[in-house]
Amino acid sequence: MAEYKLLTQHIDVPDFYQMQVYESLGGYLGLKKAVEMERQEVIDEIKKSGLRGRGGAGFPAWIKWNGIPKDTSKPHYVICNSDEGEPGTFKDWELMHKAPHQLVEGMIIAGYATLAKAGYIYIRGEYVECAQRVRHAIDQAYEAGYLGKNILGKGFDYDLYVHMGAGSYECGEESALMSSLMGERGQPRLKFPHAPLPTIAGVWNCPTLINNCETLSVAPHVINNGGEWYAQIGASTKNSRGTKLFSVSGHVNKPGNYEIEFGTSLMELIELAGGVSGGALKAIIPGGSSMPILPADQCQDAILGYEELMEKGTMVGSGGCMVLNEHSCIVTFAWRTAEFYAHESCGKCTPCREGTRWMVQILERILQGKGRPEDIELLLEVCDQIDGRSFCALGDAAAWPVRGMIKQFRNEFEYFIEHGKSIVADRPEWQRMAPPKHYERYNPMRYDYTYGIERALAGKG
Ligand SMILES: Cc1cc2nc3c(=O)[nH]c(=O)nc-3n(C[C@H](O)[C@H](O)[C@H](O)COP(=O)(O)O)c2cc1C
Ligand code: SF4
Repeated sequence: MAEYKLLTQHIDVPDFYQMQVYESLGGYLGLKKAVEMERQEVIDEIKKSGLRGRGGAGFPAWIKWNGIPKDTSKPHYVICNSDEGEPGTFKDWELMHKAPHQLVEGMIIAGYATLAKAGYIYIRGEYVECAQRVRHAIDQAYEAGYLGKNILGKGFDYDLYVHMGAGSYECGEESALMSSLMGERGQPRLKFPHAPLPTIAGVWNCPTLINNCETLSVAPHVINNGGEWYAQIGASTKNSRGTKLFSVSGHVNKPGNYEIEFGTSLMELIELAGGVSGGALKAIIPGGSSMPILPADQCQDAILGYEELMEKGTMVGSGGCMVLNEHSCIVTFAWRTAEFYAHESCGKCTPCREGTRWMVQILERILQGKGRPEDIELLLEVCDQIDGRSFCALGDAAAWPVRGMIKQFRNEFEYFIEHGKSIVADRPEWQRMAPPKHYERYNPMRYDYTYGIERALAGKG
């Protein structure tokens, strides 16, 4: 199965980010069609398409769209989540940078369907160039009459704004994002059933639709081609429809974003990315760093679909597919992953604030050759104390990968504890990946997964 380019079909066309080029290739036809439809008809098309949220959880998009009240006694808002903080994920970057009008069109369609007054595109703070491109697209959409007052003469008023994050992973969590957008501290809020859903009381306590950048970028295609047409893509899977962008990184020859049809196998995706580099395949994390790891033997028959990957014990997540070759040390990988979540914990609740630190400290002890035999059970116990007991899903996201790595590669943890070195330490270049003695613990940029080994394999270590 080859790539299925729907959202990425034209992204390499020169100047596709400009209105003129976008329109010449069919851009804004979806919006023009949408405003001729009843609002409910637009939502019904999204329902027929079977589109599920691409931000991580795979929640059916139409349920959120339909959940926005039909009365407008309070203003309604649409938010695009382009915070894209999950390690290994960089698809929204490409969608915004190369196809900003596709997102803007999706945001306007979503605004029309949900009777919204305004939309906000919340962009990860580091994505400065994306924000510039999206702002430029918004300006052009105002000039073309697709934004502002009386859009396309249909009496629909809608404004669009860009809001930059400030580098916090937690601000991608939808309730923290809304707090951040309102100028409050970027921490999560109580969730349903203890508090109303965002569709009822979201930003400024008003009905709010919040979707991921990729989810919203799909909307023009669904309206343009029809929900049923979209639902045929990926129909070989249980309940995953359409295409999905996967950001493939790590030990592959051609890292990058690849758009595939659901139902494609995991190994076909790796082939699209040029195959495994630097050695045999050891494991893949298919959906971003918070998802459980799949050892090589389980990757061979894995199918890319929400249910299909869940049956394998992992998830589609945000599509951040990280590939590890045989020279990768799982214990160091677990440590680096735990470091990220400890750094990004917002500190609001005890299990996550304390537990993520404990995990780092235990893993650090093992890496320094001072591990104790009971450390593996202790790590699992800490994971159990965080998972499901934290205020938001960041806690779960911190526990799943470490638990998954122990489950799948327990022998590597045992080896490290017993011998004080990695199971792959007989490769001299490997040892350069061990954490430096005086590394800055909480600087995530200081030490990345592949930095050491890539340099080492290139003979530059
Ligand atoms: C800690 C944390 C970080 C998240 N980061 C993002 C993110 O960067 N982008 C995103 O779209 N969703 C992120 N999510 C998921 C959002 O909370 C939310 O589910 C998503 O924006 C919904 O969009 P969708 O229905 O289109 O998937 C994150 C969730 C958690 C718990
Ligand atoms: S789980 Fe708790 S401490 Fe961790 S990010 Fe969420 S609210 Fe903050």
